[in-house]
Amino acid sequence: MSKVTPTSRRKADHIQVSLEREVQSGLRTGLDGLRFEHNALPELNLREVDTRTEFLGKKLSAPILISSMTGGTETAGKINQVLAEAAQETGVALGLGSQRAALEQSALASSFQVRNIAPDILLFANLGAVQLNYGLDVEACRQAVDMIEADALILHLNALQEALQPEGNVDFSDLLRKIEKVCEGLDSPVIIKEVGWGLSAEVALRLADAGVAAFDVAGAGGTSWAMVEMHRARNRSQANIAAAFLEWGIPTVESLVQVRQALPNAPLIASGGLRSGVDIAKCLALGADLAGMALPFLQGAVESKQAVIEAIHEVTAVLRTCMFATGSADCSALRQAKLAPIK
Ligand code: FNR
Repeated sequence: MSKVTPTSRRKADHIQVSLEREVQSGLRTGLDGLRFEHNALPELNLREVDTRTEFLGKKLSAPILISSMTGGTETAGKINQVLAEAAQETGVALGLGSQRAALEQSALASSFQVRNIAPDILLFANLGAVQLNYGLDVEACRQAVDMIEADALILHLNALQEALQPEGNVDFSDLLRKIEKVCEGLDSPVIIKEVGWGLSAEVALRLADAGVAAFDVAGAGGTSWAMVEMHRARNRSQANIAAAFLEWGIPTVESLVQVRQALPNAPLIASGGLRSGVDIAKCLALGADLAGMALPFLQGAVESKQAVIEAIHEVTAVLRTCMFATGSADCSALRQAKLAPIK
């Protein structure tokens, strides 16, 4: 398709390691410590429970996001195509992986371009915020959005991941000011996301002041980049350094509750270790507007489009049943449902 760059090789490694090795964080999300108050008399018809919602002005069949993962290689292009077809058919949102490689090498853009097969979906472009210190500017961010006709741009914050990569871009100085410039200069909303170690209230507040429109907590408890980088390490010392962070991060529940308390009205995505419709329902009850999953959909995507569609249908069916069994007719009612700690 095109020449192999260090970036495209790293992306290929990430997919392979995530699929073939154990990459689960040493921490738990916190979701399994919570249970819904069961409603024995829901006074609802299960068939009429409404999972539909809206995020950033776009309608979704359910509050589900296929989280940002990949692009930039031929395999990644095929994965994106499968994910986009499944998202279009089921009416859920899709984030693509970092488009930096396609900005470096325009031939790679096609591995991200899914709008033709998914004309109606809520679609997010993606770049590492740190790239604003390595040559990318507001214009490059605009190009990333235009390249895929995205509805919004996700800038991911992955300081620890970069620190654990031998080839990492570790200059995170003065980024807030540059993120602010992107928010000012772009017509599309900017979403800030972590990659599995969570956002604190303090960080989210500073970013909200800088003009960030929405947040994805991407907390700890699911895919761990310390695990991924440990498996990718080329020598024992690199592996040991990555292994020191296997239990690092703000667990998804803690991050979600903190950020929601700090920013009561911000559009908020929960992700990091969500693995079922019950997890999604719990996140909504904790204040999320949308819930993202990455690795489970990657596992489906390498199988078939049908596998991804089935996974989305299953998650939606569990979410719907959860809403029924808590007496929640729609997503806004689910947000009021009661959760209790499991003793
Ligand atoms: C990711 N993730 C990610 N995030 C991002 O913002 N840009 C990216 O390019 C990538 N790339 C990527 C590749 C692969 C193979 C995986 C598995 C993940 C992080 C992802 O969006 C998510 O935040 C974490 O994986 C946590 O969610 P799960 O996997 O626990 O559901």
